[in-house]
Amino acid sequence: MDAYSIATSLLLIISSFFCIQKMSHAMDTITTTQIIKDGDTIVSHGGSFELGFFSPGNSKNLYVGIWFKKVTVRTAVWVANRRIPLQKTSSGILKVVKPGILVLLNETNGTIWSTNTSISVRNPVAQLLDSGNLVIKDAYDDNPKNFVWQSFDYPTDTLLSGMKLGWNFANHLEVYLSSWKNGDDPAHGDYTFHCDPTGYPQGVLRKGGVKVYTTGPWNGLTFSGLPNLQQNLLFKFGLVMNKNEVYYHYEPINSSIISRLTMGLIGLPERSTWSDQTKSWERYITGPLDSCDRHNSCGAYGVCSMASCKCLNKFVPKDRESWDQREYRLSGCVRRTSLDCRNGDAFLKYSGIKLPDTEHSWFNQSTMNLEECKMLCLKNCSCMAYTNINASAGGHTCLLWSSDLVDIKELSEGGQDIYIRMSSSELDSRGSKRKILIVSLSLVMGIVLVGLSLMLCAHKRRKIHLSLRRRGEQRLGYANNHNDESKKNELELPLFDLHTISKATYNFSNNKKIGEGGFGPVYKGQLEGGQDIAVKRLSRTSLQGIDEFKNEVICVAKLQHRNLVKLLGCCIQGQEYLLIYEYMPNKSLDLILFNPAKSTFLDWPRRFDIINGIARGLLYLHQDSRLRIIHRDLKASNVLLDSDMNPKISDFGLARSFGGNETGANTSRVVGTYGYMSPEYAVDGVFSVKSDVFSFGVLVLEIVSGKKNRGFSHRDHYLNLLGHAWMLHKEGRALELVDSYSGKSSYLSQVLRSIHIGLLCVQQCPEDRPSMSSVVLMLANEGVLPQAKKPGFFTERDVSETKTSGNTNTLSSTNEMSITLLEAR
Ligand SMILES: *[C@@H]1O[C@H](CO)[C@@H](O)[C@H](O)[C@H]1NC(C)=O
Ligand SMILES: *[C@@H]1O[C@H](CO)[C@@H](O)[C@H](O)[C@H]1NC(C)=O
Ligand SMILES: *[C@@H]1O[C@H](CO)[C@@H](O)[C@H](O)[C@H]1NC(C)=O
Ligand SMILES: *[C@@H]1O[C@H](CO)[C@@H](O)[C@H](O)[C@H]1NC(C)=O
Ligand SMILES: *[C@@H]1O[C@H](CO)[C@@H](O)[C@H](O)[C@H]1NC(C)=O
Ligand SMILES: *[C@@H]1O[C@H](CO)[C@@H](O)[C@H](O)[C@H]1NC(C)=O
Ligand SMILES: *[C@@H]1O[C@H](CO)[C@@H](O)[C@H](O)[C@H]1NC(C)=O
Repeated sequence: MDAYSIATSLLLIISSFFCIQKMSHAMDTITTTQIIKDGDTIVSHGGSFELGFFSPGNSKNLYVGIWFKKVTVRTAVWVANRRIPLQKTSSGILKVVKPGILVLLNETNGTIWSTNTSISVRNPVAQLLDSGNLVIKDAYDDNPKNFVWQSFDYPTDTLLSGMKLGWNFANHLEVYLSSWKNGDDPAHGDYTFHCDPTGYPQGVLRKGGVKVYTTGPWNGLTFSGLPNLQQNLLFKFGLVMNKNEVYYHYEPINSSIISRLTMGLIGLPERSTWSDQTKSWERYITGPLDSCDRHNSCGAYGVCSMASCKCLNKFVPKDRESWDQREYRLSGCVRRTSLDCRNGDAFLKYSGIKLPDTEHSWFNQSTMNLEECKMLCLKNCSCMAYTNINASAGGHTCLLWSSDLVDIKELSEGGQDIYIRMSSSELDSRGSKRKILIVSLSLVMGIVLVGLSLMLCAHKRRKIHLSLRRRGEQRLGYANNHNDESKKNELELPLFDLHTISKATYNFSNNKKIGEGGFGPVYKGQLEGGQDIAVKRLSRTSLQGIDEFKNEVICVAKLQHRNLVKLLGCCIQGQEYLLIYEYMPNKSLDLILFNPAKSTFLDWPRRFDIINGIARGLLYLHQDSRLRIIHRDLKASNVLLDSDMNPKISDFGLARSFGGNETGANTSRVVGTYGYMSPEYAVDGVFSVKSDVFSFGVLVLEIVSGKKNRGFSHRDHYLNLLGHAWMLHKEGRALELVDSYSGKSSYLSQVLRSIHIGLLCVQQCPEDRPSMSSVVLMLANEGVLPQAKKPGFFTERDVSETKTSGNTNTLSSTNEMSITLLEAR
């Protein structure tokens, strides 16, 4: 080889090296000599993100955006021209011009979108960094401080690791998320999510600019209203606060995990991580956890607990009338005894709460203990409450509220303390009581002796009571503790990928359809792991139900009981709104109970177990769940049976969170099913837990008799099933009601007792009906039952006379699919 050829090959090598250098350089950068058009992309150097033109979903428009390169489902994290799209058919170009501006031009060279800058650089380039940040900078200056512009300052709906959600005071820049209009349109939607430093930093969700949810103030470890966030194992997060900026940020614990936080379309913030295994996003709703998270739902000094409002201890409703009409926010509460700042006030401690909205608050970051904080508050008559906050600094930041306290919520765990200003006389009362006690010590001694003997008696009785209860539970097999289960799911509700559900239901094939209700069709499906699911699909024609869908997601997600059908998750994608429930292989009770060929399968012990199960499920809804829910459409077709014939109440569907349009116990729209509706509900639209008790009573009589209440006929009279049962009961012939399952004599007393309880539940007057907790005890016990009065809706005619405007749904073919409204009180 001669020198010449060596030289040429060397040259070749060198030039190709430079070529490669130049190419790889060009891959993540746009220079002033380049243009990007539809089809071209740039990719960040680590291959995490890609920038180019794209069309979301079914959109006919073209946008410039950034998406995850390694995620096989195109997921945009940023959109440049979200306000003004290009036509798909037209050709736009993206280029960098001096002094450092990125512009998007349409085919006639009109500017569709551009960045702006106040500084100029010599060699401007746009570079896509591996964090997903698109920056404009000088080609030879990598110092972030000198960036001309960066997309992280102008996010759309997605927060990526490394972004700062909040305020930069130096350049008056707020970084916040705003939802897309819909799955196909990245234009600004209704919802925005902010880290709001007004007063003291907290997360704020706004709808159309109006505050609808706050996370509660940042307490150094988490947001006060999201205590469970701390326990997550996927990401670290924090709030940074200094003179120049306040911002929230997060990063995944395992940096190879792809994650994002998005402001969802319908106002539910989501956290998602990409699963390489399933090739889909694992999404969770984070943020509003239940209806108590609706901002300021209970007014000043009101506290929201289990979806209902009460005044804080030592406070009373300000406007009794509004309060009684459930206009809590309008009324609010006031101190029982008004303040008297000049003569000295005191402070009362309240525990276990989500701290109030901090918009009107101030704080002092210098180390201060509770006593010092109290003194600070005491000195200022406009200080209404104080607390120590910022656990990461040892809880030594003193936070003080300067206005009436709103948005207080009771938390079952992880709640915080607050000290609220109170007239000192409110605290004195305890002291004076103690004095009286001491004075009359001798008297007390005597009382104590009497009391002790009484207590012994009561204790004994309670023990019996408890053991009875336990016996009942054991017999019914309630061994597992559903509380643990509910805790697990408290944090977040899974969001399924549309692709997953579509696959599970064979693309919503007609063969997989198992029902059709007011809400939309219901499909059976199977997840990849083999789990059977029932999928409710919000029909396109009822898209006005999105708010109700959302309420259901928020409310029902929290319901966890073995006698309630479990919501596994939901799916919100594009135009699709789906609810995913566990699948019940034995379908609904009515299909077996009212089918003579099948009903023989239900022997008495099975029937009794079903009655007990329904009673427990209903008790949970009414009392034990954190939401207090009235089902309003309990009926045989809404009781589903699992593979072991355990009953599960379903279709506690389109949840009404309290505070909606139908807040009161009085509703203009009666929705339910003839034959199960209580008289006061069907006629006057007045409902309460006792309306559910009525429906339960009907159900019990149906289960015992195997006959439908509605459509019941008898050759001797015109009474309906309730009337018939009552007549037989009164005449001591109740056993004639019994279905052909021919109860063995050993069950007879249980059968009679069930009929009696059923009749107690369907009494005309709501006040006469027992509560579900009494019902559960009555079923488990052998004590004497009260006399049953005349049932409501004695005859079939009663029913047809009533004027009912609502949608009645007597569909009984399959799963949960009738319109149900439920009311969280
Ligand atoms: C747009 O600008 C380019 C380059 O400056 C030029 O070549 C082209 O003719 C322009 N097109 C129109 C329609 O003005
Ligand atoms: C291009 O953009 C300019 C400015 O926005 C606008 O006036 C013009 O109509 C657009 N041209 C086309 C073909 O859309
Ligand atoms: C850039 O534009 C935004 C929105 O139009 C504006 O708020 C901001 O002040 C501008 N920045 C500069 C440096 O001009
Ligand atoms: C991080 O995640 C990757 C991919 O899931 C996994 O291979 C790796 O072991 C994880 N690393 C740690 C430290 O958990
Ligand atoms: C904060 O507290 C310290 C110590 O009590 C006090 O000296 C300082 O003035 C306070 N700062 C403000 C802004 O109130
Ligand atoms: C009391 O606190 C309020 C709110 O921070 C403040 O505006 C006011 O100046 C304070 N008054 C006194 C006397 O310190
Ligand atoms: C909490 O304390 C830490 C440590 O002192 C400090 O860095 C941080 O800024 C504080 N945060 C707030 C919100 O006061």
